[in-house]
Amino acid sequence: MNSLLLDRNLALEAVRVTEIAAIASSFHMGRGNEKAADQSAVNAMRDFLNDLDINGKVVIGEGERDKAPMLYIGEKVGKGGVNVDIALDPLEGTTITAQGGENALSVLAIGEEDSFLHAPDIYMKKIAYGYKYENLEINIDDEPKKIINDFSKYSKIRQENIVVCILDRSRHNDLIDNVRSTGARIKLIPDGDVSAVIATSMDDSGIDLYMGTGGSPEGVLAAAALRCLGGKIYTKLIYDSDESFERAKKMGVLQKNKIYETNDLAKGDVMFSATGVTDGTLLKGVRIIDDIAHTQSVVMRSQTSTVRKISAKHNLNIKKYRSYFQ
Ligand code: FBP
Repeated sequence: MNSLLLDRNLALEAVRVTEIAAIASSFHMGRGNEKAADQSAVNAMRDFLNDLDINGKVVIGEGERDKAPMLYIGEKVGKGGVNVDIALDPLEGTTITAQGGENALSVLAIGEEDSFLHAPDIYMKKIAYGYKYENLEINIDDEPKKIINDFSKYSKIRQENIVVCILDRSRHNDLIDNVRSTGARIKLIPDGDVSAVIATSMDDSGIDLYMGTGGSPEGVLAAAALRCLGGKIYTKLIYDSDESFERAKKMGVLQKNKIYETNDLAKGDVMFSATGVTDGTLLKGVRIIDDIAHTQSVVMRSQTSTVRKISAKHNLNIKKYRSYFQ
């Protein structure tokens, strides 16, 4: 696309897309069926994306074409219009939703062509912190002790008052021990690191730093959000086999040890929308009262850094909604 920036009305259209996906998956909350929760979010998001006046290409999606029948990487979406790249996760937190836990979101980022790193679905090491400290530079390869010390000096937050959010995984046992040895405090989360990275840039979240290894598509989505909110993420793709590097190469990722910062993951003009599926740090989840779905979303744009929280009510008896709520 030319230098014309993304139409700001598109941001509101993006909210409609995450709202419908969140509502559809919320019907599966706590029902123990991860697949059904994810599938209904995918169906709804795809239908609503296809109703937008865009010529969109999914670059971060549900997986490679042979593995994902819908919203696969490379799928074209939209009715035609401006050329955009799309990064999405119709349901970020499938297990959370199936278990009725916290912080499940439906997420969509739209950018100019070539905005997003074509990240393969492999693990990514991530360190992120909020907008107040975005000029701090760290080395992602440093020991956690040094990173926390650097962060403490720069932010003037005493080490014992720093809260580090980490995914609760056995692969993080050493990281957790190392962080604890600095005196810093830890918030362990069962899933959902997009929300956790965003939380570092939210004043009232109680989270200062995010550290650990999670999905690389989620890293790109989180970077898109930080481009709008401010904040910084350092990442590195983790290749645990030759096969994973081969897959990455096919997607255009050529260097093994490259460090990707916020702007390498999501560059140019981007917008980001998320709707809460279950209650969380960032957003309230979907509530259904008397056939009315209440949603809370956040939508933001990098061009202006405007962050809008949008509460909406949706009448589920309207025909176009009904098919998603069986
Ligand atoms: P899903 O919604 O695909 O289940 O992802 C949830 C999530 O917790 C992400 O937020 C995170 O990046 C990734 O899974 C971590 O992967 P793993 O569960 O393999 O540790």
